[in-house]
Amino acid sequence: MHSRKLLFYSLFFLYFNFKYIQPLLSSSSSSEASLNFDFQSLTLRNLTLLGDSYLRNGVVGLTKELGVPSSSSGTVIYNYPIAFFDPESNITASFSTRFAFSIGNVNPTSFGDGLTFFLSPDNQTLGSPGGYLGLVNSSVLTKNKFIAIEFDTRLDPHFDDPDDNHVGLDIDSLVSMKTANPASLGVSLKSGSLITAWIDYKNEKKRLEVFLNYSSVKPEEPLLKVDIDLSDYLKEFMYLGFSGSTEGSTELHFIENWSFKTLGFMPVRPRTHPHNVSENIVPLNPPIPVSDSGNKHHRRLGLGFGIAGPAFFCAVLVAFGWISVKKWKENKTEKNLKAELVTGPRQFSYQELKTATRGFHSSRVIGNGSFGTVYKAFFANSGALFAVKRSKHTHEGKTEFLAELSIIACLRHKNLVQLQGWCVEKGELLLVYEFMANGSLDKVLYQESENGGNPLKWPYRYNIAVGMASVLTYLHQECEQQVIHRDIKTSNIMLDGSYNARLGDFGLARLMDHDKSPLSTLTAGTMGYLAPEYLQYGKATDKTDVFSYGVVILELACGRRPIEREGGDNKMINLVDWVWKLYSEGRITEAADKRLDGEFQEEEMRKLLLIGLSCANPDSAARPTMRRVFQILNYEADPMPVPQVKPSLTFCNSLPLSIDDIISDDEGCKTPESQFEIVVD
Ligand SMILES: *[C@@H]1O[C@H](CO)[C@@H](O)[C@H](O)[C@H]1NC(C)=O
Ligand SMILES: *[C@@H]1O[C@H](CO)[C@@H](O)[C@H](O)[C@H]1NC(C)=O
Ligand SMILES: *[C@@H]1O[C@H](CO)[C@@H](O)[C@H](O)[C@H]1NC(C)=O
Ligand SMILES: *[C@@H]1O[C@H](CO)[C@@H](O)[C@H](O)[C@H]1NC(C)=O
Ligand SMILES: *[C@@H]1O[C@H](CO)[C@@H](O)[C@H](O)[C@H]1NC(C)=O
Ligand SMILES: *[C@@H]1O[C@H](CO)[C@@H](O)[C@H](O)[C@H]1NC(C)=O
Ligand SMILES: *[C@@H]1O[C@H](CO)[C@@H](O)[C@H](O)[C@H]1NC(C)=O
Repeated sequence: MHSRKLLFYSLFFLYFNFKYIQPLLSSSSSSEASLNFDFQSLTLRNLTLLGDSYLRNGVVGLTKELGVPSSSSGTVIYNYPIAFFDPESNITASFSTRFAFSIGNVNPTSFGDGLTFFLSPDNQTLGSPGGYLGLVNSSVLTKNKFIAIEFDTRLDPHFDDPDDNHVGLDIDSLVSMKTANPASLGVSLKSGSLITAWIDYKNEKKRLEVFLNYSSVKPEEPLLKVDIDLSDYLKEFMYLGFSGSTEGSTELHFIENWSFKTLGFMPVRPRTHPHNVSENIVPLNPPIPVSDSGNKHHRRLGLGFGIAGPAFFCAVLVAFGWISVKKWKENKTEKNLKAELVTGPRQFSYQELKTATRGFHSSRVIGNGSFGTVYKAFFANSGALFAVKRSKHTHEGKTEFLAELSIIACLRHKNLVQLQGWCVEKGELLLVYEFMANGSLDKVLYQESENGGNPLKWPYRYNIAVGMASVLTYLHQECEQQVIHRDIKTSNIMLDGSYNARLGDFGLARLMDHDKSPLSTLTAGTMGYLAPEYLQYGKATDKTDVFSYGVVILELACGRRPIEREGGDNKMINLVDWVWKLYSEGRITEAADKRLDGEFQEEEMRKLLLIGLSCANPDSAARPTMRRVFQILNYEADPMPVPQVKPSLTFCNSLPLSIDDIISDDEGCKTPESQFEIVVD
């Protein structure tokens, strides 16, 4: 009797299960009101990528993957809207999500801005780059509606950020309601390591909690706990996703897996009391890990679990274990590969560099500059040759050194001297570069031929002019954050084994941040290369770089230094004035380097001289951009007209700096002020 009753109840339970609960399970995943999902790896089937985001090997990258600094933003959105609020019962869902992400960087000094997990009433939330985290469209600020958890790696004072490593809750604004620093858990967001995040919102408690750990073990205590009622913000349907952004940095943002569920809520069956249904369903439908092969799988598992119980569960567990081990192995080889492919600058040990330069022996010195000394370094075990820059022990040197490190580490261009690594040890800073077989342009152009060597052949000279135009176009216009070199001169242009120009010495360069003008330090610039407005106002711009470039290509064409003494009275001759005078007299080709013995293409020579003059125009507004120069050199644009007479500029007051402060010639010879014919007429 008793057992018959039991059997009856069991059968009834199964029947009930089939008739009522199972349809709920299926409808919950096939309709737009999906209650939970779990992506072991991400697929395009259920996700939409917006902006610069991309999918590779089951991992979503949110921002552009470039070795050069860029501003980029991207979003990934789950395709289907998710119900969070049931107007009939006036109930708001609780939710819980877990995902693994990493924020990496090939260049340790180039970071920002971060990523977010968001819920938004619309699926078009492609936002602006930079501090907007790809979440907010900066042109329609008030229209942005979202609830987001930000993982922010840049201190943006504009949004009251506390530091460059924080997690915060943002609602309809990027000014966080509350933030926490994961350093308290020993976690650094930009470590590049995989971080697992859990975000739980409990509607009953009106509390949101965020947990972080490097491992997939959920900590007991939340990192961020906010008492807040989200029911005002959780609409009937919301879209979920991630966004990320960079601003002139090379930071990378990856999402590796993601699961999500809503709790305490069953909007598709408003007839039943939501609480009762959900309490039944939650234990019956745990987030069973499924491979991305889809939902049929999912439904079958759910069904099986309801009927066959533990046996089936064990089988699933074994299968899952096997799949994960396989996956883990695949992942591992992939990661190793990744590590080998990324060949950015690395850190060297002091001992390594000391050995490679024979203890910084004087016989290894290949150059001297404002920053210190350059040594040739030979690494016996790899057979590699590098150039090592060692700073002087002055504070100033160090600042310049660090400026150089942070700037050049982010740049990639075939006409740049590539940074190989650095070393900060024993109170010293050392930078390691590619070794440039042919030294600097000024040596090749002047010293070698003075010592009886052959003058640099014309095709090389023209090629150097093209290479320099290409790299300056990149620095001025193609990097998202404009770089002004500020110290372009022949001694800073290196030549590789094939005499290609390689721009080096970024000691003075500054990233141009929006409208901030760079702090001017004129001391290390060299007189003949400085634009008149730079001398006058001390402000470097891309146009002052163009001026210096103009002087360099006049040197290439004429084989003369920018300022040379001439005649018995040692009069200083300014190269730009000298060429312009010949041009005014209609005999510009007479400016060509005599040592070439006429072995050059006259058309090219003429073109180079005219570009030199237009770049060195005293009127900065009349100078071409580097892109234009590059096009002219490549026969893609017509040459600019050059005024027959050198335009004259008048500045209302005298020079703000004494010329003695400004001159610092490579040879260290200072010239008295009175003898200078400054480019300003
Ligand atoms: C993914 O998309 C497929 C096909 O559109 C769908 O059947 C399945 O339910 C989705 N899976 C998840 C986890 O949303
Ligand atoms: C819905 O519930 C909230 C509290 O959660 C209450 O303030 C509000 O008045 C309710 N609205 C209706 C229409 O019942
Ligand atoms: C956004 O949703 C609408 C319908 O709700 C759909 O037509 C559109 O394709 C979606 N857009 C994206 C980018 O997912
Ligand atoms: C921001 O919104 C404006 C107007 O709706 C739109 O034209 C622009 O493309 C949006 N910007 C981004 C980054 O989506
Ligand atoms: C993070 O995970 C590790 C296990 O890998 C655990 O020992 C540690 O306690 C966790 N961190 C926190 C803050 O719970
Ligand atoms: C998410 O991915 C990471 C690395 O791929 C892995 O360590 C972690 O266990 C995964 N989490 C889940 C729940 O699949
Ligand atoms: C739901 O559960 C509550 C108690 O939790 C109970 O009073 C109510 O009758 C139940 N409703 C249904 C439809 O089962």
